[in-house]
Amino acid sequence: MKNNIKVFAPATIANIACGFDLLGLAINGIGDEIVIRASETKGITISKITGDKGKLPKETNKNVAGIAALAVLKHLGLEKELGFEMELRKKMPFGTGLGSSAASSVAGAMAVNEALDRPLTKRQLLPFAMLGEQAADGAYHADNIAPSLLGGIIFCRDNPSLDVHRIYAPKGLYATVVLPEIEILTKDSRNVLSENVSLKAHIQQSGNLGGLIIGLINGDFDLIGRSLSDVIIEPQRAKLIPHFYAVKEAALGAGALGCSISGAGPSIFALNANSLEAEATARAMQEVFKYHNIPSRVIVSEINNEGAILC
Ligand code: HSE
Repeated sequence: MKNNIKVFAPATIANIACGFDLLGLAINGIGDEIVIRASETKGITISKITGDKGKLPKETNKNVAGIAALAVLKHLGLEKELGFEMELRKKMPFGTGLGSSAASSVAGAMAVNEALDRPLTKRQLLPFAMLGEQAADGAYHADNIAPSLLGGIIFCRDNPSLDVHRIYAPKGLYATVVLPEIEILTKDSRNVLSENVSLKAHIQQSGNLGGLIIGLINGDFDLIGRSLSDVIIEPQRAKLIPHFYAVKEAALGAGALGCSISGAGPSIFALNANSLEAEATARAMQEVFKYHNIPSRVIVSEINNEGAILC
């Protein structure tokens, strides 16, 4: 058993426009950290949380990181034999659409597994990390969890069975994200969605999803650009994000391949074919929020191919 170790799980962009609940990618430079130490108290205890402005519960069974960590320990039959105390360091805001609860859940599952000298593979940790995420928004989708854990761009063919597949990002692909200082809870952003989809929209969205995956696999940036369009979810959620369409127009005007809502929002992402265009896109997107006096920050990142790591 290892003691006093630190793990990091990155933020993620879920949906990637046309893949609602099915596609996600990991980014660099933002995510959550957990430090885990052996403890006399059996099971999982959350000793400290920082960066959450006092908003997250410390009770293990109410905290997504605690739920995921305890699930791993229980799966290994060790919850009555071993004890760990965890310190959760929130290094990203929540309610932004960058998979905050997923990053914490992944870090929780990873931390216990690393402390126990890695009895499970990253893939085997998926269902346990999912339990944390499910507790956060009540739904079972791996489009944040799988890329945060495994890294890269992940296609979830089937969420209930966690049939997830890695797509290797083409060289040069950059993600740009603007995070306005507005909070939207995933639960609320899911509640605005209609249960019904027209046949026409279904056909368009399926075409885009297939096109995006083929474009990513073949490094065909034109095809990626034509496919980065969400005709089902974005029109329903756009009203929750002030100035969404102006930001999108600014991104496309600056040369982005496409632009849409990151996860459940309010963050807005764009994909770019190189870093210079990504930086220009970031400036253009942020300018719109600045004009409307809404504070925001931007992230320009290559695709994070590592996912969760031991630091
Ligand atoms: N696919 C999810 C959604 C991601 O858009 O609601 C957010 O957690």
